[in-house]
Amino acid sequence: MEKVQAVRGTKDLIGEDYLRHQHIIRLAQNIADLYGYEGISLPIFEFSNIFKRSLGESSDVVGKEMYSFFDKGNEEITLRPEFTAGICRAYIANGLKQHLPLKLFTYGPLFRYERPQKGRQRQFHQVNYEFLGDGSPEIDAEMIAMAADFLEQVGVLKHTSLELNSLGCAETRKNYQANLVMYLKEYENQLSEDSKLRLTKNPLRILDSKDEEDKRIVANAPKIGDFFTSEAEDFFFKLQEYLKLFGVKYNVNDKLVRGLDYYNHTAFEFVTKDLGAQGTVLGGGRYNGLIKLLGGDETAGIGFAAGVERLSLLCQLPAKDLRPCAIIPLSNNEQNFAMKLAHDLRKHSIAIHLDLNTKFDKALKNAIKVNAKSAIFIGENELKNNQLKLKDLDTRVEEIISIDDVLERIKK
Ligand code: HAM
Repeated sequence: MEKVQAVRGTKDLIGEDYLRHQHIIRLAQNIADLYGYEGISLPIFEFSNIFKRSLGESSDVVGKEMYSFFDKGNEEITLRPEFTAGICRAYIANGLKQHLPLKLFTYGPLFRYERPQKGRQRQFHQVNYEFLGDGSPEIDAEMIAMAADFLEQVGVLKHTSLELNSLGCAETRKNYQANLVMYLKEYENQLSEDSKLRLTKNPLRILDSKDEEDKRIVANAPKIGDFFTSEAEDFFFKLQEYLKLFGVKYNVNDKLVRGLDYYNHTAFEFVTKDLGAQGTVLGGGRYNGLIKLLGGDETAGIGFAAGVERLSLLCQLPAKDLRPCAIIPLSNNEQNFAMKLAHDLRKHSIAIHLDLNTKFDKALKNAIKVNAKSAIFIGENELKNNQLKLKDLDTRVEEIISIDDVLERIKK
């Protein structure tokens, strides 16, 4: 018989994996609330063109990794490989211009046909923040400081370093790219196969090639900073001043270009050495011009996304704060009473652990396993007197209490 299994590169979230995932999303939502980011939820698929135009035909994501198909109406659809393009599409489609500046938070699954390995899946999850409608460096600094706050909350900031670059404005990019290509052409034969292709399609990506020979060549390549217009230079200078004000540490890395085409000015990544090859836990940057490219008005934008799976590999799960009370009937005769009591207490928002059709010894063991704070024992003799036995499972102190007092006692 055919083996029943999940698709390669996808993962079921079960037990601790599920708890870690939820924990990270809760912390991300909490940061969104603190910084005033509104929640937004988008469809999991869009017309393919939205991603092709935004991320760029020469990006790896569009070139090799999209899950695209023609639906029954013959529309070309793509499962979202990232959030930014969809958010800009939603901004235009819903006429949100009047609400600018907009701060938006979202999270959920994304799809990229990549080679699966530790920290890299074909269905993965991000938490994602975007700020639309303000193109000043204060916003970039606040956003990066927020990213650092989030990573600190998750407990992974100490395992990461912040890499920062400016890709300048369009004019900077144009001049720099021409010079870079001129330099790299001299070494064309020595470049890796990937980089040879990129030389015509997307030369800036050669800067962050992992190939050793490419790295050696790139080390002496012209630097983008030498091509900054005064506007781009001033922007990057101010951003760094604001980061110092926030006390956010960073390394300027002029080889950081990011894999998607829409970035300009600020590009940043929080990277770690603790995850092997997939070291980027969070990445983002400014994308002024993207909304215009998709058919909206000229609108500034900046944002970032963090990979939930990668954070999950690094974070420690806190001890569970919601500890249930276990209800344990001494025999089957008290089970109906136990069920009714559990139902009544849950209606008062009290977490109850109750095993049905389970022998006393096993039920007691299970109560310990689920880390119950207390247990209510229901015995025939006590019931006759309208009483129950309540035990604190931490201190082991037991007492007989009246059934009428049980709610008050448990609440305490
Ligand atoms: P990205 O760098 O492509 O940026 O992805 C952001 C993060 O998602 C990565 O740093 C990584 O943690 C996680 N990630 C990406 N691909 C995978 C994968 N195959 N498996 C597991 N985790 C993965 C973006 O997606 C941009 N939209 C970020 C952004 C928002 N820029 C501006 N606004």
